[in-house]
Amino acid sequence: MTATPYSASTAPFGSQLPVSGRSAWPWWLMTIMSGGTAIYAAHYFLGRPTGHFGEHFPILLAHITGGGVALLLGPWQFSTKLRERSLNLHRSLGRIYLAAVALGSLAGFTLAFFSEEGPPTHFGFGALAVLWFATGLTAYRRILRGNIESHRQWMVRNYALTLAAVTLRNELPLMLVARVQLSDAYMIVSWLCWVPNLLVAEWLLRRPASPVKQFSP
Ligand code: HEM
Repeated sequence: MTATPYSASTAPFGSQLPVSGRSAWPWWLMTIMSGGTAIYAAHYFLGRPTGHFGEHFPILLAHITGGGVALLLGPWQFSTKLRERSLNLHRSLGRIYLAAVALGSLAGFTLAFFSEEGPPTHFGFGALAVLWFATGLTAYRRILRGNIESHRQWMVRNYALTLAAVTLRNELPLMLVARVQLSDAYMIVSWLCWVPNLLVAEWLLRRPASPVKQFSP
């Protein structure tokens, strides 16, 4: 890979380098899995389900609207090419993304009080909702102050939490295949869907500077 020299004026995220198509596969995987989860979630708009998820349906729909928009927009905000082509588009999509996170997290926090399996899931999902909101707010405040690098880091943490929706829906079926009881699996995933995501985000942010600092196209 050859590094393209950037000047401060042409590189809004100047410390990052573009990557070759081959290095972009994690980004594509993330984008496809995020899109798949958003499409899965959209099925709730087809009608009110019976049972648990039908009980607080308007809140669930608000949660899914926010979460779905965040899942669909988030990956594109990490694209160096897109930012370079139009910083205004990055700003507009970023505002919509953060508004979606605010809606999704406030509704998610409310749903956490009613989640199945009691206090372990109330606290697991509740903590996730608080951190999802707080990391988004911090990222926004950092960019308002013009601190681009800190904004990027908080956005990485925030999207790692958005991806909890993807990890949960992969972990739960795997646990059921491994014959873990549904009630136990649900309590475990209310934490396991987001704590490892944050650890991976921290590892990505703290590892020694690599020529490929960013994995998006
Ligand atoms: C990252 C922060 C998130 C938090 C704190 C959160 C929290 C919750 C909670 C508490 C429930 C109800 C669980 C129960 O009643 O047992 C729920 C359900 C649900 N959430 Fe989230 N959620 C988050 C992200 C997302 C995202 C990004 C989406 C994507 C659209 C999403 C889609 C759904 C769906 C579809 C359900 C219904 C259950 C299902 O069909 O799997 N959530 N969420």
